[in-house]
Amino acid sequence: MAKGRNDMELRPNPRTGRYRLISANWKMNLNHLEAIQAVQKLSFLLRPADYSYVEISIHPPFTDLRPLQLLIDSDQMRFRLGAQNCHFEPSGAFTGEISAPMLAKLNVSHVIIGHSERRQYFCETDEIVRAKVEAVFRSQMTPIVCVGETLQEREQGSTEARLRSQVEAALSFLAPELAERCVVAYEPIWAIGTGVSAKPSDAQAGASIIRNVFDSFWGNEVARKVRIQYGGSVNPTNAAEFMELDDIDGLLVGTAALDPDSFARIIQA
Ligand code: 13P
Repeated sequence: MAKGRNDMELRPNPRTGRYRLISANWKMNLNHLEAIQAVQKLSFLLRPADYSYVEISIHPPFTDLRPLQLLIDSDQMRFRLGAQNCHFEPSGAFTGEISAPMLAKLNVSHVIIGHSERRQYFCETDEIVRAKVEAVFRSQMTPIVCVGETLQEREQGSTEARLRSQVEAALSFLAPELAERCVVAYEPIWAIGTGVSAKPSDAQAGASIIRNVFDSFWGNEVARKVRIQYGGSVNPTNAAEFMELDDIDGLLVGTAALDPDSFARIIQA
């Protein structure tokens, strides 16, 4: 991570040995002028110690990436630049799409893949998610792979089967050295944008299922290293309880990340 303003190094969680990661998924919000203002304000609100506690990635719409890259570089801000999606091919006749090498060229380091909104509204299948994960790694970036069950699946008691099958389908082809570099975001679909977050015990249970899948595919060493975020109606009031959970290493925040004040309070919670 680029250093700036202060030289405090990012420190791993002493309890788990893993680096925490809090990510802002802006979805289709904030134009490039609003984006610049939001990131400047966030940078103003955060204290040096916040950056040593947690890695912070910001995932704006594509049109904001270049202005934010310039801002982050010129002001030596310690934010990771992220994207919300990419195409799986490196180039070609895919009107309207953006490729992983294009994102890497903008210093994007993290790409959200397989968000439930993409699966639901843009027909992204497990095969597409898998191809995108591969594309992100080919461009030396880190995928944040989203998984999560619907309310119906939860009520039918099939949460575990759903999470297992999503993780397997998206990631099982990976060599261990790539598997351990993945970030998996556990986002129960019923908790996204609803204001009803999962209970900490639900978030822990989901994250633990995901870590167990890693254990069964790649063994304990990889399972211990993979980072798992919780996402779904995270806000400044509930953020701390998720960050304290054994298997949760960070948060993927939607609505509450659009306001720099509330995102800063989540980071500082
Ligand atoms: P909300 O925080 O608005 O529930 O969105 C969560 C999400 O989808 C993050 O990717």
